[in-house]
Amino acid sequence: MKLIDRFNRTHNYLRISLTDKCNYNCIYCNPNKLNDKFGKMNLLSFEELLRVIEIFAGELEFKKFRFTGGEPLIRRDVFKFFGDVGKLKSIYGFKTGITTNGSLLKGRVGELKNSGVDSLNISLDSLNKNKFLSITQKDEADRILNVIDEAIENGYSPVKVNAVIIKGINDGEILNFVDYFKDLDVNIRFIEFMPFGSNTWQRNGFISYKEIKNLVEEKYSLSVLSSDKNSVAKDYQMDNFPAKVSFISSISENFCSTCNRVRISSTGKFRLCLFSEGKHEINFKELFQKKYSNEDIVNELSEAIKHKWEKHPEPEELSEMMANNMMTIGG
Ligand code: 5AD
Repeated sequence: MKLIDRFNRTHNYLRISLTDKCNYNCIYCNPNKLNDKFGKMNLLSFEELLRVIEIFAGELEFKKFRFTGGEPLIRRDVFKFFGDVGKLKSIYGFKTGITTNGSLLKGRVGELKNSGVDSLNISLDSLNKNKFLSITQKDEADRILNVIDEAIENGYSPVKVNAVIIKGINDGEILNFVDYFKDLDVNIRFIEFMPFGSNTWQRNGFISYKEIKNLVEEKYSLSVLSSDKNSVAKDYQMDNFPAKVSFISSISENFCSTCNRVRISSTGKFRLCLFSEGKHEINFKELFQKKYSNEDIVNELSEAIKHKWEKHPEPEELSEMMANNMMTIGG
């Protein structure tokens, strides 16, 4: 059975947040330094997560699972968990990925690869030591650049590098990113800055993917790559260089009509959209405690998916929605 909503969108991609916590405090993601405010949380255990994955892969034909956070790699024993997920991959034939700031990957990318994680997205918002520090509150630009090299050496092909572009912060670095990565097996992904409750999003400070792309094309020529139909990125091959460049236009051109994703928070809440406020959330912890069978859970999910909205609200409205928090659902 497939998880299909009212707009005939088939969902086959689950993004799982492993923790709300992060070892960075990036200004655009976690402006209120929530890390200091989290108490002890009732996270889904790895055992419970494996059951979640078996339900989505085995009953609902899901083909992709991505682990996010907070920062997913701060969760203890996470590499062992990835290994256990890897064993399920061979049974069900799905793919896995993680989105990470990379800081805890130093010296461990080989282990990550061996555990079976297929794709690796590393966030990097500046190449400049001081700018990186001012965005993340950590002096780790060089460390992350080394981790990106390590990822290339270990065969992540391409390594995806995510940069959120914010006017007045790092928009002056767009070409530097391309200059720096152009000769490497890297996919540079420029992400439009998205509003979340409490971040500093403003339309006049916003820079759209088209502006970013124009800037890149002043120096380099790009050829369109055909991406899969559910891809959120507009992908390009750099002419005469190995690197790829992508643009993620969540705000200026949303991709809701082809959305194939659903999410689970670290405490087990099922969410229909990155921006949804959780009115129709199912709580997996609760269902497991009540001893729901897989079939019962599939029924709950089929009911919940009917409430998925056609598209997310306009940015001005999103920035008023305080219940939203990027940090805890992880991009
Ligand atoms: N707008 C766009 N992207 C964001 N991310 C976090 N907050 C925002 C935001 N407000 C990105 C991170 C990372 C991924 C998890 O989500 O940079 O690449």
